[in-house]
Amino acid sequence: MTFARIAGTGGYLPERVVTNKDLEEMVDTTDDWIRDRSGIKRRHIAAKGEKTSDLAVVAAERAIEAAGMDVSEVDLIIVATSTPDKVFPSTACIVQRRLGLRKIPAFDVNAACSGFIYALDVANRFISTGGARNALVIGSETMSRILDWTDRSTCVLFGDGAGAVLLRASNEAGIISTHIHSDGEFEELLHVPAGISSGYDTVQQEAAFIHMKGNEVFRKAVSTLGNIARETLSGNNIKQEDLAWLVPHQANLRIITAAAKKLELSMDQVIVTVDEHANTSSASIPLALDVAIRDGRIKRGELLLFEAFGAGFTWGSALVRY
Ligand code: UT7
Repeated sequence: MTFARIAGTGGYLPERVVTNKDLEEMVDTTDDWIRDRSGIKRRHIAAKGEKTSDLAVVAAERAIEAAGMDVSEVDLIIVATSTPDKVFPSTACIVQRRLGLRKIPAFDVNAACSGFIYALDVANRFISTGGARNALVIGSETMSRILDWTDRSTCVLFGDGAGAVLLRASNEAGIISTHIHSDGEFEELLHVPAGISSGYDTVQQEAAFIHMKGNEVFRKAVSTLGNIARETLSGNNIKQEDLAWLVPHQANLRIITAAAKKLELSMDQVIVTVDEHANTSSASIPLALDVAIRDGRIKRGELLLFEAFGAGFTWGSALVRY
């Protein structure tokens, strides 16, 4: 059996850091409220003209380097993003050109904050069926571009960044299982109303920004993440105590803490970056993974659980032997 194994990871955060104190100058909020309700202390914001593909390329190069591979060995690129550079071509095609690659398949996946899990699921299917051997899976976002910087209920919560994973075909596990779900019933609880087929000329500027009923999303996220964790463990006959690390999507520290509690994991076994990165949507899991691999917490052979929840609603998980 062929598995997809994580050969290397990379991350990139834009240089500019915006603290909660900085936001106090912009909207009616306080550092205390943001820390207390979300766990966020600061976020990175892309420079003027810095695009999602720019972030993705650096994260990808770092992942390729960490894997000790030559870029020419990459034979599939999937970019998870809901903030692409252009309507088309896909951000993945732009990344492909920037990496100096030709002809290999490259495409985007949009599943909002669950995008990385969806992209990982697709790449895993490519590798396990012989369709690719070395797949770059990137989550990259410039969430700052779809924020209304006068809306305190959303602008304090998000940040920009990119994370990448290079998956390599191997006889050893690897990605053990992936689980993805969606429910379009909840479209309007978390959305950016503007879109191409809605017609630009009819769109108010505010429709181009994130609209979220935070409290309702919060409740749904907590219950759904509990269910997906159970589905993943029982589907693989794995007990909570076999897990070394939970690497969750980083939307809110209270959601992450609730997920850890349901899994009876100590917070020492949970990778948390929401304080430093805020919610970087599809970039948050690969960024958190990269941080914890580089600082030596996550070690080869350990069992990891990734889980995410986002607009759609979409949600998903992956059980991974690193
Ligand atoms: O990644 C995709 C999925 N997204 C999520 O998972 C996000 C889910 N939601 C959340 O993380 C939380 O719901 C929030 C952090 C967005 C909000 O926390 P909350 O505890 O649910 O607060 P709330 O929305 O119930 O608002 C409480 C109060 C409100 O005032 P009133 O109506 O009680 O007077 C808000 O107007 O807090 C007010 N508020 C703020 N106050 C200071 C909202 N935003 C702010 C702010 N600063 N930035």
